[in-house]
Amino acid sequence: MYTQLEQRGMPEPPVNVSTLRRMKQDGEPIACLTAYDASYAVLVDAARTDLVLVGDSLGMVIQGHDTTVPVTVDDIIYHCRTVARGLRRAFLVADMPFMSYTEPGQALDNAVRLMQEGGAMMVKLEGGDDQVAIVEHLARHDIPVCAHLGLRPQSVHKIGGFKVQGREPDKAQEMLESAKRLQGAGADIVLLECVPNEAGRMVTEALDVPVIGIGAGPNVDGQILVLYDVLDITQGRTPRFVKNFQAGLDSPLAALQAYVRAVKGKDYPEPEHCFS
Ligand code: KIV
Repeated sequence: MYTQLEQRGMPEPPVNVSTLRRMKQDGEPIACLTAYDASYAVLVDAARTDLVLVGDSLGMVIQGHDTTVPVTVDDIIYHCRTVARGLRRAFLVADMPFMSYTEPGQALDNAVRLMQEGGAMMVKLEGGDDQVAIVEHLARHDIPVCAHLGLRPQSVHKIGGFKVQGREPDKAQEMLESAKRLQGAGADIVLLECVPNEAGRMVTEALDVPVIGIGAGPNVDGQILVLYDVLDITQGRTPRFVKNFQAGLDSPLAALQAYVRAVKGKDYPEPEHCFS
């Protein structure tokens, strides 16, 4: 089954959804990063990152916009193809951009493009209860889905800024119920952004599928960061959860290896990267 991979010199099968579920069951933290091009994809893969996301954060870190809103499906496909060429082991997820999944048929068409043209193995979309029907539709067509809860950057203009979500007990409970419904609808991964540690723990304990956090504290199944934050390329003020892994190291690969080691060893996030 893995003949093509063996021919490409792969000593082991690539990460897939079953690998990620097994890691949750075994309590092995899942190390995830974003990537946007082939050269960095090679490094991220060599550092043994388990999951790579072609995030719509590319709108900010690659294209120079203030938000992710201007990113298009074609943009994600372009970057996803380049990343796919650089990966050998890591599981590749592509973001569905703003307004590319407003109704089931459109969501399915765009998800298919991300997989067929971009080479993605899973799509990620932002949303809670409002996206249950979309997730159900994609799952019914065997499209693997990651549901992004907590801070949803595509809604920044509606929320009024990039703010921590789920601080109030009723909001945390709402998030938990949405996460359960999304899992029930067929989501294979839940991603939580910018939520208090306690909300991260509650959702992680309640779900069978892996929960990946970014600013969601240490009690989740895996961590993800934006590549350029890890490598200290991002200038100016960075979010509280960001850690510069490049400090004191002389190559990007060494920094990425340090990040993966810190996630696997549960040394990241530290209290100063967390919200309460
Ligand atoms: O777009 C992105 O990079 C993301 C991560 C911040 C999780 O959604």
